[in-house]
Amino acid sequence: MIEKAAEAILRGDLVAFPTETVYGLGASLWNEEGIAKIFRAKGRPADNPLIVHFHSVEQIQQVAQDIPSALYALAERFWPGPLTCILKRRSCVPDSATAGLETVAVRIPSHPVALALLKAVGEPLVAPSANLSGKPSPTRAEHVWQDLEGKVADVLDGGACEVGVESTVINLCEEIPVILRPGVITKEELEEVLGPVKIAVKGERAIAPGMKYRHYAPICPVHLVRSLCAYSKEDGKKRLFLGSSEAPGISRLETRTLYQLLRKADAEGYDEVVVQLDSKLESDVALMNRLLKAAEPR
Ligand code: TXA
Ligand code: MG
Repeated sequence: MIEKAAEAILRGDLVAFPTETVYGLGASLWNEEGIAKIFRAKGRPADNPLIVHFHSVEQIQQVAQDIPSALYALAERFWPGPLTCILKRRSCVPDSATAGLETVAVRIPSHPVALALLKAVGEPLVAPSANLSGKPSPTRAEHVWQDLEGKVADVLDGGACEVGVESTVINLCEEIPVILRPGVITKEELEEVLGPVKIAVKGERAIAPGMKYRHYAPICPVHLVRSLCAYSKEDGKKRLFLGSSEAPGISRLETRTLYQLLRKADAEGYDEVVVQLDSKLESDVALMNRLLKAAEPR
């Protein structure tokens, strides 16, 4: 399985694979045709750079220069795992992968299938989430087939992703490191290793290019509310109610199952998703980031 997938990637075809966060759509960093296929398959804007995946820290020197000691400190604590670091790139990295930026995003995933594939290919893999651009990221192999059937050579099935949302992205090229995308590795955990860390604010230059696009959204509208009182059963609308705990008519929402629930809303023909917010959900920075994006008016 892995050997065949590795051969396909080395031929320039795309293979989706599980990571601990979400499924990735993989191509070799050194294969420009493979990289072009990723953008075409996802319908991804060319100005949105890709994350380069490795199986060992030593490999990162192939793509990055002036690597700060902070990278090694973070690697020690969080890799393999759901963290992506932005470093100064080397000129050998294809512009198509970094969208022409002077920086490159790197990560070592922890899923055994991802690590086995990286070793079998023997080259770094660029891998965005394996969904159509704008749709919720895939957390199961079947989600990838739903979005990309006919566009991928293979999907390695590693079951449901443990984390369920994309990696935390931190920019190490700034004087004070900046979190560009929140994830399950929190600001507080990063500060234990790095000292003070900032969070990028929407509208500021520092934000990850991908964060300006509408994301994570099912086709049906998503509403975030405090009270469900306004929703009457009689208006004939089919609603998926989500909350921090299971209750009659309400499904439990967790980071791990967020994207699966959003996909279910479309697959089962719901008219809307209604999320009842409370302090528990609101204290989860990564989950709220995705929920707010999913609920953006279109
Ligand atoms: O968990 C993850 O990170 C998953 C798995 C497959 O590894 N990958 C993922 O990739 O979420 P993608 O392409 O869906 O999101 C990558 C994010 C985008 O917001 C992109 O703009 C940002 O990382 N990014 C990539 N390179 C960057 C760079 N050089 N500077 C700033 N942001 C960058
Ligand atoms: Mg994505």
